[in-house]
Amino acid sequence: MDLVKVKNLFLEEKERVKTLKDLENFRQTFLGKKGLVSQLFKELKNIPPEKRKEFGREINLLREEIETFIRQKSEELKKLELEQKLKSERIDLTLPGDTVLPVGSKHPLSAVIEEITEIFKGMGFTVETGPEIEREDYNFDMLNIPKEHPARDMQDTFYVNRKGYLLRTHTSPVQVRTMLSKKPPIQIIAPGRVYRRDDDPTHSPMFFQVEGLVVNEKVNFANMLWVLREFLQKFFETPVPVRFRPSYFPFTEPSTEVDIGCVICEGRGCRVCKGTGWLEVLGAGMVHPNVLEACGIDTEKYRGFAFGLGVDRFAMLKYGIDNIKLFYENDVRFLKQFASL
Ligand code: PHE
Repeated sequence: MDLVKVKNLFLEEKERVKTLKDLENFRQTFLGKKGLVSQLFKELKNIPPEKRKEFGREINLLREEIETFIRQKSEELKKLELEQKLKSERIDLTLPGDTVLPVGSKHPLSAVIEEITEIFKGMGFTVETGPEIEREDYNFDMLNIPKEHPARDMQDTFYVNRKGYLLRTHTSPVQVRTMLSKKPPIQIIAPGRVYRRDDDPTHSPMFFQVEGLVVNEKVNFANMLWVLREFLQKFFETPVPVRFRPSYFPFTEPSTEVDIGCVICEGRGCRVCKGTGWLEVLGAGMVHPNVLEACGIDTEKYRGFAFGLGVDRFAMLKYGIDNIKLFYENDVRFLKQFASL
């Protein structure tokens, strides 16, 4: 092996080293056990003794040069490869993560209240609310239910530790509040929680109602029938049969209860409609003059109609749920089924 050749080879090869892998091959070629430098050392014995020392020194210099090159190149390449690695593996923190946390869903009762609200908004109603701890006179007296009136027993009441207050048994006191604070024309709905001492698979001590009230100069029973029929068709999304039965509420006269053809059995008769083919879904009527007067509305000029519905019942019918308690247990397995609402 010729020293000059190896030196030239070194100068040529060092330019070809582009990666750490190249560098390792390069090291093997020159400094490996059977590498070019070892081969040069083996040549020593063929060198005339007087030149041997000089030759040996030159090989050593070359070896050192090669070693220095390898050390420097190695550092340079490591730095470069790290930079490239960092560049290619850079984390973009603005990208959405791939393990998405489960997102909650709308409660079916909220969804139904929203839906009912949208339908009435489409008919020109606005939304009012009232407190759940209500004045006894707004809940009863001003709605033409004086003390000792048997109708108070129709709604088993939760009283609170403050005289003259109770947990409202229906949303009808919002009618009173609205008429006391606003002048006709009035066209409102009032969704909210109500409380009664009732507890079985179809009754919960707390449930939801939506109240409706329209007061204006030319309002009549036929208008009311139209509004309610229109609402029921829209809510149940089919031309559902609707029937109006005469009924009694102290705060409306005349009064009606509204039935729809059973959405479960389509009128054939089942457990849910107790074999009748009909389901009661609404109470309604023309606002009793006593109520209008109690709220300072001129009964010569104005008339009104009002209605009340049970949200839970609407939700149960719409989604085929047979136990009202499911709405209040907050079991995720139940709630998840409404994720698309
Ligand atoms: N407030 C009545 C109830 O809870 C429903 C109703 C409201 C009836 C308005 C007529 C008019 O049973």
